[in-house]
Amino acid sequence: MSFREDFSWGAASAAYQVEGAAVEDGRTWSVWDMMCRKPGAIYQNENGDVACDHYHRFKEDVALMKQIGLKSYRFSLSWPRILPEGIGKINFKGIEFYNNLINELLANGIEPYVTLFHWDFPLKLYRQGGWLNLASPQWFADYTGVVVEHFSDRVSNWMTLNEPQCFIGGGIINGHHAPGDKLELSQALLAAHHSLLAHGRAVRVIREQAKTKPFIGYAPVGVVKVPATETAADIEAARTSMFRMTDESYWNNTWWMDPVFLGRYPEDGLHIYGEKAPKATSEELAIISTPLDFCGANIYNGRETTVGPQGQPVDAPRYQGFPMTAMDWPIVPQSLYWGPKFLYERYNMPVFITENGIANCDWVSLDGRVHDPQRIDFTHRYLRELRRAAVDGVDVRGYFHWCLMDNFEWTFGYNRRFGLVHVDFRDQTRTIKDSATWYKTVIESNGKCL
Ligand code: NOJ
Repeated sequence: MSFREDFSWGAASAAYQVEGAAVEDGRTWSVWDMMCRKPGAIYQNENGDVACDHYHRFKEDVALMKQIGLKSYRFSLSWPRILPEGIGKINFKGIEFYNNLINELLANGIEPYVTLFHWDFPLKLYRQGGWLNLASPQWFADYTGVVVEHFSDRVSNWMTLNEPQCFIGGGIINGHHAPGDKLELSQALLAAHHSLLAHGRAVRVIREQAKTKPFIGYAPVGVVKVPATETAADIEAARTSMFRMTDESYWNNTWWMDPVFLGRYPEDGLHIYGEKAPKATSEELAIISTPLDFCGANIYNGRETTVGPQGQPVDAPRYQGFPMTAMDWPIVPQSLYWGPKFLYERYNMPVFITENGIANCDWVSLDGRVHDPQRIDFTHRYLRELRRAAVDGVDVRGYFHWCLMDNFEWTFGYNRRFGLVHVDFRDQTRTIKDSATWYKTVIESNGKCL
């Protein structure tokens, strides 16, 4: 057994990173539009006002997806484009844009995978407390209702939240991401709890109101530990380490995934956070753990783990000059074997790699093409590991390469390129990179050529 015949080969993107048209046709600001105005918050004070201008160029972009042979496309909806006040009045121009995009995808045989929230929280609701407001799960449920009402006749694949570790941890603990706050941990954990409740409420709304049978997941960061050597002891150390909390850091899996998939916060996390942890009722945990259809994970790297002197899991040392991407992220292909494998063992859910990819120094060569052998080699190595997971019986259903095209990489502005398609931000020219042509052959052979 290798990849399933119906394996979902795709690419991903997110609204604020690609759409542009920031104040057009009724869209209002999100926390990211505000963040981009904070001097020094973003590389060269750039912003997503225009980004890839996907709002106007989506037809060209779908044609590129078709040319690459993508079977599916993961994209997010801009909440403030659909509901300019965050709640209440619907912006039908926004609905029209997503209708056109969805129809264009379907007309080209590309299956939409829709993320409800990829960080662009409506500014108007942030001014009412954002995720700290007790009403925020209800706001999100109402927004989800509008989305489901308008799109679920043609969309059946859904993801609720993207990387809560980042929009809570980066957004309101260390302030690197929007809205750029540094709240006390107890407050941030309360906001996190509300976002998990919002997730659960949204799942219920989709299940109850969708017009076609929904397939619903969640896309947290997959914080992956890989065994330093494939010995039983190191494998156990990696497994233990991947699902434990040892400090207050938000970089973990269990605080964000156990409530969703197991209906409880992890004991070690509750112990570490103590009084700062939210007082979750059993009713709330039941909402948060409303059954899902798949476990998504955004996986870019992993940490080699071994057994420490007292028998505890510890990070294994890395050699000097360890391979790194242009983000300075380590290249650890085995993360796409052990990540899905450990997640599948613990949560017993079909797994989707909802993001994986590499930032690289790409430019248009003298011959007019974009040669990115590093991205090909990176993806080749990672996908071989994912295939190994599938061969070993992990129920892997899909892979979304991040990203379809170069875009606004949050605090890095346009200074990091993750795309399969190169974008010249001076005039929006798109150029298919060599990696996209290579990815096409992978898709056509359903991964056999890897
Ligand atoms: C994860 C985020 O979901 C996405 O928005 C971001 O661009 C990529 N990682 C790369 O940093």
